[in-house]
Amino acid sequence: MPRTSVVCNFLVELPIFLLFGTTFKGAIDDVDVILEILKDCGYSQDRFYIHCDAALCGLMTPFINNMISFKKPIGSVTISGHKFLGCPMPCGVQITRKSYINNLSTNVEYIASMDATISGSRNGLTPIFLWYSLSAKGQFGLQKDVKKCLENAKYLKDRLQQAGISVMVNELSIIVVLERPRDHEFVRRWQLSCVKDMAHVIVMPGITREMLDNFISELVQQRKQWYKDGKAEAPCVADDIGAQNCACSYHKIDYISS
Ligand SMILES: Cc1ncc(COP(=O)(O)O)c(C=O)c1O
Repeated sequence: MPRTSVVCNFLVELPIFLLFGTTFKGAIDDVDVILEILKDCGYSQDRFYIHCDAALCGLMTPFINNMISFKKPIGSVTISGHKFLGCPMPCGVQITRKSYINNLSTNVEYIASMDATISGSRNGLTPIFLWYSLSAKGQFGLQKDVKKCLENAKYLKDRLQQAGISVMVNELSIIVVLERPRDHEFVRRWQLSCVKDMAHVIVMPGITREMLDNFISELVQQRKQWYKDGKAEAPCVADDIGAQNCACSYHKIDYISS
């Protein structure tokens, strides 16, 4: 017997969770490739359920490649409102098919209403913030933000690369992953998020070229101090971001020629 899971009150043989922007490196799953694999493996649409976690990139993909679409056999999408859109408090939306909502909804007699949420009560103000941000920016505003962020992420990556600093950006991502700056105070002041020997910069709509230039020039200057006299070396991050993106003393030669 195949194992099954319950999704939206349905028994599903194969629940699949796709990511549109992994938390640290911003990797984006390719729905079309996954669907092709499922087809090749003989999975009909009633045997799988696809959830798209698009917390960061849900508002970007429509302007990049229209990857997420309910014309495809996906079950649901979640998007955070406080990330790319910049709402001032945590909020988000889940979009799913009516059939699933109907299946989940219960009639709550004492409020004389249907309810499909896990916890029942919810913040009524955040949808207004979402609505306001979406209408203030509009489709063209969002499109402009997406273009600017992708260009700025590429700019930051190129500049760091030119300075001989390990750096990697996943395809269509605005998350720039770089070697972890050696000094804790530098990390704290720039509010960098770090994992192992990596740090990342999420190039959001509010980030300007001037901020990036300041960041780069300060990092370059500080690195000269941290690594002078050869007492310490920049970390090797080949295992985490690929040897071709690593500028440590061992991988430097490949890095410069790539
Ligand atoms: C991939 C991914 N999913 C979900 C979340 C959580 O989103 P939220 O802050 O809306 O709860 C994050 C947050 O960083 C994330 O990176």
